[in-house]
Amino acid sequence: MRIVLLGAPGAGKGTQAGILSKRLNIPHISTGDIFRANIQKGTELGLKAKEFIDRGKLVPDDLTVSIVKDRLLKDDCQRGFILDGFPRTIPQAESLDNELSGLGIKLDAVINLEVPDEVIVRRMQGRRVCARCGKPYHVLTLKPKQEGICDVCGGPLIVRDDDKEETVRERLRVYYKNTEPLTGYYESKGILYNFDGTKDIEVTTGEIMSKLEQITGKTG
Ligand code: AP5
Ligand code: MG
Ligand code: ZN
Repeated sequence: MRIVLLGAPGAGKGTQAGILSKRLNIPHISTGDIFRANIQKGTELGLKAKEFIDRGKLVPDDLTVSIVKDRLLKDDCQRGFILDGFPRTIPQAESLDNELSGLGIKLDAVINLEVPDEVIVRRMQGRRVCARCGKPYHVLTLKPKQEGICDVCGGPLIVRDDDKEETVRERLRVYYKNTEPLTGYYESKGILYNFDGTKDIEVTTGEIMSKLEQITGKTG
């Protein structure tokens, strides 16, 4: 399956993408995680991206699109993929459409997680992420087995630099201006599916999985 996860910052895209990736056995591709890994390694891409990310702005489309194009050509994407945090602008969505149609494939589903702003601001205050693999945790609702340590890879759990409340609010503004219009874009293509992202994590996963089963049943 070829899936895009859409939703505001903190809506739970990374959380759901991680679970769905395991269940469906397809790679989870997060542009945010790719940028953060590059920032940590101090690459040129990381240096460029950091100045936008730390201010809650979007990284320019040309940089972002080329990373995703390269990633989609890797072998592990043959069976499908889950894009998390990409596309985030109409030009990015159009580039993705062009790229996929060049490969003779198309998206099966765009999953939109809906969560009110105030819930998001509260959630982000408790978020921790693994510095090594990016897996998100929460100090109240999703604790690691051992405090401060990632269950999956043993990496240290940290607070993201862009999770300060004022930066979160700026990210929300950017989301409404640039990314929210994508819901209309995909709705008109008939592949948008909305989910209530305020429910328990497993409940939302269950709802997404049954919708995906319905879609694969329908398209064969
Ligand atoms: P990115 O890393 O994609 O950040 P984001 O979109 O702002 O989303 P987040 O990762 O903050 O949230 P999420 O939806 O993944 O939620 P999560 O599962 O962690 O992008 C970061 C930056 O990189 C951007 O601001 C931009 O600068 C740049 N960038 C990235 N992609 C780009 C692109 N395509 N173009 C241009 N620039 C780009 O969950 C959040 C918290 O809530 C966690 O603590 C989690 O445990 C908890 N939680 C999740 N689900 C639930 C639930 N159901 N109930 C209770 N708690 C929950
Ligand atoms: Mg994320
Ligand atoms: Zn980890």
